[in-house]
Amino acid sequence: MDVQNKAGVDLARRTWNALADRQEAFIDRFYQGLFERYPDYRALFPPSAAQRSRNMIETLSLLMGIDQAAVVQANLRYIGIQHQGFRLQRNDLERFRDVFIEELGSVVGVSWSATEEQHWRRLFDTIVIPAMMQGLAGAHETNPI
Ligand code: HEM
Repeated sequence: MDVQNKAGVDLARRTWNALADRQEAFIDRFYQGLFERYPDYRALFPPSAAQRSRNMIETLSLLMGIDQAAVVQANLRYIGIQHQGFRLQRNDLERFRDVFIEELGSVVGVSWSATEEQHWRRLFDTIVIPAMMQGLAGAHETNPI
């Protein structure tokens, strides 16, 4: 983990914590945006929006609170393994990234900047997507949590 990636994880944690009680609103908007743009994805998810939100918030909050990037990566690899059944490709993860960043920006509001957007994009491109891709392609390993 180099210094730049460490900075990316720190930034992500700051943005995420700053959302505070808007975290759930963000997750709702994220799913709305994803399903509007890519209706085919809807069938993969459980029908209860409340259940979806809880899983995402719990897992993301847990990840954002972790100071060691290697632990974050190990968890993302494990999440990638859990996604194997959905037959996803890099393109699907890039769609996820784009919707995530766009909706995050709109919930953060006026303090959101082009620099912050760039950081998030880099975080996805250097940590989240590669670790998810490893998990998608990889063999089973034990849950690191
Ligand atoms: C970088 C990309 C992605 C990340 C970081 C990510 C992350 C996550 C996380 C953290 C969870 C919750 C796991 C848990 O319950 O503990 C989850 C669940 C799930 N993800 Fe993803 N995901 C990504 C992309 C996708 C894509 C592109 C799809 C399909 C189009 C997808 C489909 C699902 C489904 C169906 C679940 C289960 C939902 C549930 O049971 O509530 N994911 N994902």
